[in-house]
Amino acid sequence: MHETELIKRPQLDYQVHSLIASRWSPRAYDSKPVEPWKLQQIFEAGRWAASANNLQPWYFLVGYNGDEVFSKIFTTLAEFNRLWVANAPVLALAVAKTTNSRDELNKSYAYDLGQAVATLSLQAAEDGVHAHQMGGFDSEAAALSLNIPPDYKVLVAFTLGYLGDAENLHPNLTKLELTPRSRRPVSETVFTGSFGHKADFLK
Ligand SMILES: Cc1cc2nc3c(=O)[nH]c(=O)nc-3n(C[C@H](O)[C@H](O)[C@H](O)COP(=O)(O)O)c2cc1C
Repeated sequence: MHETELIKRPQLDYQVHSLIASRWSPRAYDSKPVEPWKLQQIFEAGRWAASANNLQPWYFLVGYNGDEVFSKIFTTLAEFNRLWVANAPVLALAVAKTTNSRDELNKSYAYDLGQAVATLSLQAAEDGVHAHQMGGFDSEAAALSLNIPPDYKVLVAFTLGYLGDAENLHPNLTKLELTPRSRRPVSETVFTGSFGHKADFLK
């Protein structure tokens, strides 16, 4: 096991499933490809997310390191992301159809796409694969260069792959990779009685 897996293990206030505890977003990737059977499982998991009216607005365009889709997505990334994505074996776009079958706006497209990405990220964790989502890219440029139709919106880019050595990262990123994960306490997030009032079932 990589040293970073230990560093990134969350300090839990309450026990959760080990799968949830094992998901985190690395920047150091090994160049080893992700096996097709794992990609099948990962995207199958996304398929079973909940969505408003079961519209399933999510779509994914997957690039492999070295192919045209990868390099076209890569070109649209913010400089910071280009520092680490270059070594990832898979770079994908998460795309949402923004309209329903009557061509009206589907208000839930972003929410539902997020649920699909969250679900596939957990399946990835189950398979020993790490996903890392990115908002730092030019989504309009990505849509244009990859012929995404006008009523579809590119919301997030993400990598998939196996963990690599933090030492091989750009020096600006090594510290981030070796810093423990942090979260606001659940007691400041979940309320009962009134908004802002700590939930009565919490310690
Ligand atoms: C919508 C979204 C956009 C993000 N954009 C970036 C990004 O552009 N670059 C990056 O390195 N990480 C990005 N992240 C990753 C977050 O920084 C990361 O999920 C957060 O720090 C929590 O860390 P964890 O996923 O390891 O728990 C993004 C995550 C999400 C969900």
